[in-house]
Amino acid sequence: NFTPNAFVDEMVSELKEKLGNDKVVLGLSGGVDSTVAAVLLNKAIGQNLYCIFVNNGLLRKNEFQSVLDQYKGMGLNVKGVDAGDRFLGELAGISDPETKRKTIGRVFIEVFDDESHLLEDVKWLAQGTIYPDVIESVSVKGPSATIKSHHNVGGLPDYMKLKIVEPLRMLFKDEVRRVGATLGIDPELLGRHPFPGPGLSIRILGDITPEKVQILQDVDSVFIEGLKSWGLYDKVWQAGAILLPVNSVGVMGDERTYEKVVALRAVESTDGMTADWVHLPYDFLMKVSNDIINKVKGVNRVVYDISSKPPATIEWE
Ligand code: XMP
Repeated sequence: NFTPNAFVDEMVSELKEKLGNDKVVLGLSGGVDSTVAAVLLNKAIGQNLYCIFVNNGLLRKNEFQSVLDQYKGMGLNVKGVDAGDRFLGELAGISDPETKRKTIGRVFIEVFDDESHLLEDVKWLAQGTIYPDVIESVSVKGPSATIKSHHNVGGLPDYMKLKIVEPLRMLFKDEVRRVGATLGIDPELLGRHPFPGPGLSIRILGDITPEKVQILQDVDSVFIEGLKSWGLYDKVWQAGAILLPVNSVGVMGDERTYEKVVALRAVESTDGMTADWVHLPYDFLMKVSNDIINKVKGVNRVVYDISSKPPATIEWE
């Protein structure tokens, strides 16, 4: 039977012993796992933990600044690196999903590597790897490991020559959340939906431009804020919006329009391996659709994804 308090006590003393006075670097993603790992390490080694939070330009609307502020408020030694332009520059013209993922993975490593070279004498790289990540990365048949090149695990190059420390690698997600709660992390942060490492890039079908990112951030924000204000956010495992690479005809006043279509997706799941679409109330869908079309310039049609996984996946690419 898992007891978060005992885990924290044991892990903190284990980390103290293992790390001594060494410096440790950790990449924060804004997600639950890296945050819990950071707070745990911070409890063990304090300011010897150097956290780096990279803006890849593909996060949710306003998320870079608000999450960075939240991290600072938690007393973490964190540096925010705004590399959005660099990522979007490298992604320009790329439509293939796997190439998008690889490009983001590569640029992330470059940015992270540059930043960790600015720190002297770092000995360790800490990661928020959890047990399902460990399983997925060793299993040959794991669908998402083989079909999609997830880069959450072991994604950093050898030349960094850092020793790896992964305090959560024996824990399941719900255990990580309980550890986070014991550590006093904001329940809202602990309850956040999963969000893919490549961010909005894989929810913009086709090539990525700064304008498309902004449209999708605005649409996504109306949807997610709507879920929160209708009390639906916590009933959904993951939700987001997808910008489709087609325009459709609409009408505004006497004029015809020819603008973007967005799809909304909300799923129930336990681990992301299988998923069902959520039966969101029609009244909610109506309100959100109207809000999106009224507030987000360039979008004239909203559709709702009613496909389960399998055979569909949660993301569209
Ligand atoms: P799929 O689309 O495979 O998604 O049904 C299952 C879960 O994995 C997330 N996902 C990713 N996470 N890097 C990530 O870190 C990726 O490349 C990636 N692709 C999908 C997806 O958001 C869902 O939670």
